[in-house]
Amino acid sequence: MTGLPNWLSVALNGRLEAVSRGALRDRAQTISDTYRAGGTSQIIRSDHDALAYAVVRMPATYAAVRAALAQAMQIIPEFAPRSILDVGAGPGTASWAAADIWPSIARTTLIDSNARLLALARELGASRDAPGFDASLMQGDAVQALSGAPMTDVVMASYALTEIAPAALTGILMQLWKLTGRLLVIVEPGTVNGFKRILAYRDVLLASGAQIIAPCSHERLCPLAESARWCHFSERLPRSRDHQITKSASVPYEDEKFSYLIAGKGFAGSMRGRRILATPNVSKGGVSLTLCAPERTEERVIGRTEKAAYKEAKRYAWGDVIGL
Ligand SMILES: C[S@@+](CC[C@H](N)C(=O)[O-])C[C@H]1O[C@@H](n2cnc3c(N)ncnc32)[C@H](O)[C@@H]1O
Repeated sequence: MTGLPNWLSVALNGRLEAVSRGALRDRAQTISDTYRAGGTSQIIRSDHDALAYAVVRMPATYAAVRAALAQAMQIIPEFAPRSILDVGAGPGTASWAAADIWPSIARTTLIDSNARLLALARELGASRDAPGFDASLMQGDAVQALSGAPMTDVVMASYALTEIAPAALTGILMQLWKLTGRLLVIVEPGTVNGFKRILAYRDVLLASGAQIIAPCSHERLCPLAESARWCHFSERLPRSRDHQITKSASVPYEDEKFSYLIAGKGFAGSMRGRRILATPNVSKGGVSLTLCAPERTEERVIGRTEKAAYKEAKRYAWGDVIGL
């Protein structure tokens, strides 16, 4: 399970003192209903709204981004970036996750059109034990703000491109790629539509000479492009008591489904392998795996008789990359 780091939970809890949980729950419900109906974060108009977003959505988007970055680090473990550009940063979720993965980060630039979410990012960043990097906040529409943004080691867009009008998407993607020093990280909801957008970004970035670092272990045709299956992953996260109350939820955890793409520039011979595309099935016969290979998926069973491989395979999880 991937929870928020302690400093962030403490900072959020501090902001919840004296806030009516009933009012927070009502706003969280309205925000969730809006997202589910295809609406955007423009529904977040007050400090309470921003807090409601942070309580019900930030733990999940944080877990998804952190999981995606952890997968990238398996492929490029030596990479130690100094700077991040976080586009559609909201309360700074992707920057906080990146800080947890890369202690080397010294500077982050957060861009968002929503003043209330950006104000919350500023407050969280000023909390005790927050990552000590130098943060610049730019409020404005991504198209304009990106033209004044610095070139950075890692550019991130977490659950943000989904809110950009389709006509502006390719232009923004090219702006992001131009500002990318080494890595571009895009995380989207793990829905069919989220995956379709990821596929479209992949095509555009490959045509611009990108290396795909994760989740794909190759740059060839995506085997799921024409399939009923879609490439997505799942991360379990704990729900705090306030998270449960605000969401009217009965269980103390949730599973966040996400799709992602991490594209790179200038990485030498990264590790290839096969990505596990679904929860491995452990049966009497062995461990059955659905794997991503160039232009096709592979079904592979590691039988009990392959003792060492079977023992290792029992530890495999959906989303892992394995060197078969
Ligand atoms: C669902 S929130 C995600 C926030 C954060 N990245 C996360 O993962 O929790 C989407 C964010 O994108 C921002 N956004 C949407 N369209 C934008 C645009 N055209 N320019 C700048 N920010 C935008 C919203 O204000 C919001 O903060």
